[in-house]
Amino acid sequence: MQEYDFNLNVFPSSREASLVVAKEIADALSLRSSENSSLVLGLATGSTPVLVYEELVRLHLREHLSFKKAKCFNLDEYLGLEATHPESYQEFMKRNLFSKVDILPENAVVPNGKVPYDEIPAYCENYEAKIKDCGGIDIQVLGIGRSGHIGFNEPGSSVDSSTRLVALDDVTRKDAANDFGGINDVPTHAITMGVGTILAARKIYLLVWGKAKAAILADALQGPIDESVPASFIRNHPDVSIFIDEAAGQMLVGR
Ligand code: PGA
Repeated sequence: MQEYDFNLNVFPSSREASLVVAKEIADALSLRSSENSSLVLGLATGSTPVLVYEELVRLHLREHLSFKKAKCFNLDEYLGLEATHPESYQEFMKRNLFSKVDILPENAVVPNGKVPYDEIPAYCENYEAKIKDCGGIDIQVLGIGRSGHIGFNEPGSSVDSSTRLVALDDVTRKDAANDFGGINDVPTHAITMGVGTILAARKIYLLVWGKAKAAILADALQGPIDESVPASFIRNHPDVSIFIDEAAGQMLVGR
């Protein structure tokens, strides 16, 4: 078995892994709440974190987990989508988490995909400032795209990039085509936290499920650390926990 210089946790299924991740987030949130301070969460969308959110909702409903002290910032949003569009990340977060827990609306922040074009740079700077004003992200939840992206930081994104407007990679748009009823309706651009924004989080959880992600996960964890696979940069982070299922791990050398 190969030694990894990061914390790799392999589970038989995404469900088992998601329960553990949700419990760790819930424990951190409960601890902060008991100290009457906030926990700042960086949150992801897509199919990857759905079971984590489902479990957090269950803990809220059944085990008194409160989100009153949570401040959430989402990674990204498609440019041009109304918040109410069924594929917007604003809507995703509402559907999967925010409408089902007791988070205060002002603490459930998703980038606005409808910012007028000429206001985007100021909007992105303000997004960064808001995160800093809250004391920075305590826990960042991440998935990985088959392009190697984290957030929507596609190949070519630099390690110190900040929140900005980006063009989506073809691989990313193809993977979203089903959800949008065809590739032509997939937005071409998005607003995303940068790699630098993500790496500034105190703790990172990277979640990866399924064999479709096996090749890019192997590149991210065992290939060079560079801009061709932005997810590889998380190996430079001092506190990253990687949760994968067996299928996602099948191309890792030494497993
Ligand atoms: P997915 O996307 O969770 O829908 O696989 C992950 C990502 O693109 O980061």
